[in-house]
Amino acid sequence: MIYIASDHAGIELKAALIQHLAVIGRAVTDEGTVSTDSVDYPDYAQKVARQLFADPSAYGILICGTGTGMSIAANRFSHIRAALCQSAEESQLARAHNDANVLCLGARIVTVDAAIACVDAFLSTEFEGGRHALRTQKLGNNDSLKTLIALEKDAVAFGFDWPNQDMILDQIISECAEIKDAVQKGELPARVQEEISDLLHAVISLCMYSGFDVNETIAIINQKFKGRMAALKAVAAEHGLDSLSGQSFEFMLELWDKAKKRI
Ligand code: RB5
Repeated sequence: MIYIASDHAGIELKAALIQHLAVIGRAVTDEGTVSTDSVDYPDYAQKVARQLFADPSAYGILICGTGTGMSIAANRFSHIRAALCQSAEESQLARAHNDANVLCLGARIVTVDAAIACVDAFLSTEFEGGRHALRTQKLGNNDSLKTLIALEKDAVAFGFDWPNQDMILDQIISECAEIKDAVQKGELPARVQEEISDLLHAVISLCMYSGFDVNETIAIINQKFKGRMAALKAVAAEHGLDSLSGQSFEFMLELWDKAKKRI
């Protein structure tokens, strides 16, 4: 499946590409916009990014006036590798070397023919993998969390589930003890990291077992931590501080307690 979207500036090119995709027999879903009324490109990049999150083997095409806004917006999503292209060669290399899953085009920059050439090259090129895979892996993404959630769901579907919340909490406590032990024994960083990964797994299990969406749960703490950090900085500023570097831990805790009372 190909998910395509544009802002008002890209609407004509989008229509031309949808027509082309139909001619070459590719399934396409139009994620808007639907008129030349002015809209904001991040909203449309987000629509396509969401579709690709649910359907990781799909591709996206995003069009705005220059393609720049769409590519910036799309690349804010960690599962997206968006490439802004003007030529077939760039599009082909974006797939072959970068495993790009979204093609961005500037409707005010490229002709319809050039855009079609980009689309064709993009869709007909496989990722080469090998040394390029080592590089794309370094880009990092949220796939690891997604994979863990999928593995956890699979385990539960297989009947391998926790009997109750208490046992998961006990597991979390024992994972903490193992991390402490590994640190105290001066174990290699890889060993400590492995113990921390066990703890993260147990915490994710607790979240899922309790019936909460993992991403939504992380979003809650992001929101809370963001607010508390803003309050902490405000409290620090009242003490004439623009940083807490060098302050005692007791003083930091005192300010943190004050910040928590404000939010
Ligand atoms: C809209 O006029 C234009 O700013 C937008 O389509 C895009 O080019 C932004 O990057």
